[in-house]
Amino acid sequence: MPVDPLTLPVDPAAQQALAARGLRFDLLDPGDDAAVRAWVEADARGFHEPASTDESFALVRGDFAESRTTGVYDDGLADPAVPVATITSWPAAMTVPGGEVTGWAISGVTVSPTHRRRGVARAMLEAELRAAAAADLPVAILTVSEATIYSRYGFGPAAWAAEWTVDARRAGWLGAPVPGRVQLVDRDTAIATARELLPAVRRATVGDVQIVGHRFVRLFGSDADAADLRRRRFARYDDEQGVPRGLAVYKLEQDPRDFTSSTVEVRHLATATDDACRALWQYLLQLDLVHTVRAGLRSVEEPLRWLVRDQRAIRATELREHLWVRVLDPVAALSARTYGGPGRLALRVTDPLGYAQGEWLIEAADDGTATVSAAAAPDGVPALELPVDLLGSLYLGGVPAVVLARAGRIAEGRPGDAVLADRLLRAPEAPLLATWF
Ligand SMILES: CC(C)(COP(=O)(O)OP(=O)(O)OC[C@H]1O[C@@H](n2cnc3c(N)ncnc32)[C@H](O)[C@@H]1OP(=O)(O)O)[C@@H](O)C(=O)NCCC(=O)NCCS
Repeated sequence: MPVDPLTLPVDPAAQQALAARGLRFDLLDPGDDAAVRAWVEADARGFHEPASTDESFALVRGDFAESRTTGVYDDGLADPAVPVATITSWPAAMTVPGGEVTGWAISGVTVSPTHRRRGVARAMLEAELRAAAAADLPVAILTVSEATIYSRYGFGPAAWAAEWTVDARRAGWLGAPVPGRVQLVDRDTAIATARELLPAVRRATVGDVQIVGHRFVRLFGSDADAADLRRRRFARYDDEQGVPRGLAVYKLEQDPRDFTSSTVEVRHLATATDDACRALWQYLLQLDLVHTVRAGLRSVEEPLRWLVRDQRAIRATELREHLWVRVLDPVAALSARTYGGPGRLALRVTDPLGYAQGEWLIEAADDGTATVSAAAAPDGVPALELPVDLLGSLYLGGVPAVVLARAGRIAEGRPGDAVLADRLLRAPEAPLLATWF
């Protein structure tokens, strides 16, 4: 019977390490309103965000019952109820090639500027990894504020995202017609649609992570930001049977000097079919009075270029790593995904924290499913030597092993092994996570 990670007690090793620094490491009681509010304030401070309002607090309040949240407290402070460090985690489904895993989603990592660089973040992160491993979760996952923090804990960037900006007047349209139709819906209808649609999109998108609680609601705007909420529009694509297959959440920013030059900010685009993708891009690019369409957190392989007549009307900027993956259980993680054909591959992994240290043999069958075992590779089996963070990077199939080998970040057993590894590991499409957590 697997352990429910939300019921795990506080991590004793981190508790001891922090007690030695005069700090108290405690799980947050999700029923204690005042303690939760204090935690939320500390989290907001850590990310330089404004203090919470009653509305913004109400939005996040329910999430605490569904997560394991920890604070670090300094009882010598004037306001000891506000933690000096925060972290929160919950189990979340993540799509991998050919399947899915439950990952330990980690968020809200902050340490007060008054307590930074004393090993507090390290104590909390290592505690989270132990919690995830104790609950038999094969991977931990996160999105990051800075790209330099997490590889030391074994996380590697595994999915990238880009911001696409289109000069809508110049782009033109080449996309094939679609049989369904686009209609504008109100926010409640959009949310009701998304409750069905987003899980379907997630299951079809490698790298996508189940989104719940306030992170889901916030995609549609919220009372916590009333001005923003009033500006949001919701366009839905229904297929020829009338089944919703896509949703675009966007807002328009007018140019007060020129009413023909508004900018569309696409806040979220979820498409379960190719028709829905084409229909909603066409709708967005052909809005009247619009000069620019901008969409962030989109795939680096967004089909947009191939939908317009003038590819130079499009720029992909802000290309950056977005989802980070830490493999904790190589056998469970690697056997949960499928591979690009039959074949064998050995992975010799170094992991300073021990979880993934060792040699792992992937034996993929004709249908792409694989048996993975802790075993030395027989002679002649292609092999890669790599640190655990790059195992996370390769895991979703979004990074070519040949590129990592060329960069000298991984070693091949024999020349050419990275090419053979890519045949098995690469995913057909770039992984994508289109939300933050
Ligand atoms: C990032 C943050 C949590 C680090 O907390 P901290 O308690 O100062 O970190 P630690 O003292 O435990 O440092 C652990 C390691 O991370 C490194 N590190 C800490 N902050 C770092 C940063 N911002 N960038 C790069 N490395 C950092 C330390 O040098 C240390 O390295 P080492 O173990 O190899 O010696 C803290 O600076 C913070 O709250 N920043 C603002 C909020 C934020 O960005 N959170 C991350 C959200 S994804």
